[in-house]
Amino acid sequence: MPRLLIIGTGYVADLYLRSLKLYPEIEIAGCYDRNPERLSQFCTYWSLPAVDSFEALLNLAKPDDILLNLTNPSAHYDVSRKGLEAELHVYSEKPLAMEMDQAQVLADLAAERGLRLASAPCSFLGEAPQTIWAGLRAGVIGKTRLIYAEMDDDFISQAPYQKWFSESGAPWPAKDEFEVGCTLEHAGYYLAWLLPMFGPVRTVVAASAALADVTDVTAGAAPDISVGTLFFESGVVARLTCSILARHNHELRIIGDTGVIEIDECWNNAAPVRLRRRFSLRRRLVNAPLARRLKIKGPTHEKLGRKGAAAMNFALGVVEMRDAIREERPCRLSPDLSLHMNEVTLTLQNAGEHGGAVTMQTRFDPVAPMPWAESLAR
Ligand SMILES: NC(=O)c1ccc[n+]([C@@H]2O[C@H](COP(=O)([O-])OP(=O)(O)OC[C@H]3O[C@@H](n4cnc5c(N)ncnc54)[C@H](O)[C@@H]3O)[C@@H](O)[C@H]2O)c1
Repeated sequence: MPRLLIIGTGYVADLYLRSLKLYPEIEIAGCYDRNPERLSQFCTYWSLPAVDSFEALLNLAKPDDILLNLTNPSAHYDVSRKGLEAELHVYSEKPLAMEMDQAQVLADLAAERGLRLASAPCSFLGEAPQTIWAGLRAGVIGKTRLIYAEMDDDFISQAPYQKWFSESGAPWPAKDEFEVGCTLEHAGYYLAWLLPMFGPVRTVVAASAALADVTDVTAGAAPDISVGTLFFESGVVARLTCSILARHNHELRIIGDTGVIEIDECWNNAAPVRLRRRFSLRRRLVNAPLARRLKIKGPTHEKLGRKGAAAMNFALGVVEMRDAIREERPCRLSPDLSLHMNEVTLTLQNAGEHGGAVTMQTRFDPVAPMPWAESLAR
């Protein structure tokens, strides 16, 4: 049975641990963080074994174990590469790497060694997107034409983030968040849904800018707004906006020939999925004022209540990787999917004012829906 080795025990590690409590059969063999105080605080709170170096963590590894990389984005590449070189499967927080050539090295290494490699977010394995996808497959809106996806999180630099702490006491890492940028941090929450549903993106036309003054926190802030138009190979076009300026808005609208699928929050596994049909009434075109709620037939997956900004089961991706290893089948969160998501995300983030049209170099094979999400309830 694959076990977990955790590196990086900061803010997000608590969200993983709270989620992993839903799967008591998953053993956490050891944890390491380069910050010894934080490591001790985390391991004491969750009663987990700590080790005092990365090498000591890697030395614990048994065949089939998974390295859970929850370090800061700038460390992802080095940490994941060392994990793969030590023959561990690797599940990394997003982004897979900060540069595409680094992400490619990781994917090549995993392929060479026959190891699993995946990156967050895993929320696509959750109920809301699986419901949307079942609806799309059932043709509830006809052919999809256009998507509007918003990841606006309000004017974060003015939020009282100094008071934000994780369950076991890690401060919200403001400096790192501003330096990494909201696009690298958040675009994946909708990309990870849209890519499996609509396939690879052919071209990205994007713009991005750093607008807020955060010089009291860092001199090196990444863009705090990006707007991208994604042209999918399948013909669908999506507009994806990420900002930490505009008022909170996580809406997704999928517009098809006969109606619209709507959701208001991608950070809630159980967010209601609504269908509004479009019809003509006398001289007017009407989107049904009363939406129909789409639901999956039967039970879905383990869920968690709201923790901070999210009601998400962060363990879904790790559980998927564990099951794929055990069942010797492809993992739904494949290296190719992660690579493509990384490429689209970096293109959005790095667009600036003159990004122009960029042709994507990566693709991925179709992804299977979850077995419990075959069909909608009537
Ligand atoms: N903060 C959130 O709400 C949130 C939510 C979802 C995903 N994430 C993602 O989770 C990852 C971690 O973010 P976070 O908020 O937990 O940051 P954090 O700064 O709170 O925690 C990161 C931890 O990793 C440790 N670390 C960094 N490099 C290391 C290395 N080389 N070896 C050992 N330890 C190392 C740091 O000491 C720190 O304790 C990021 O990729 C972020 O995008 C964060």
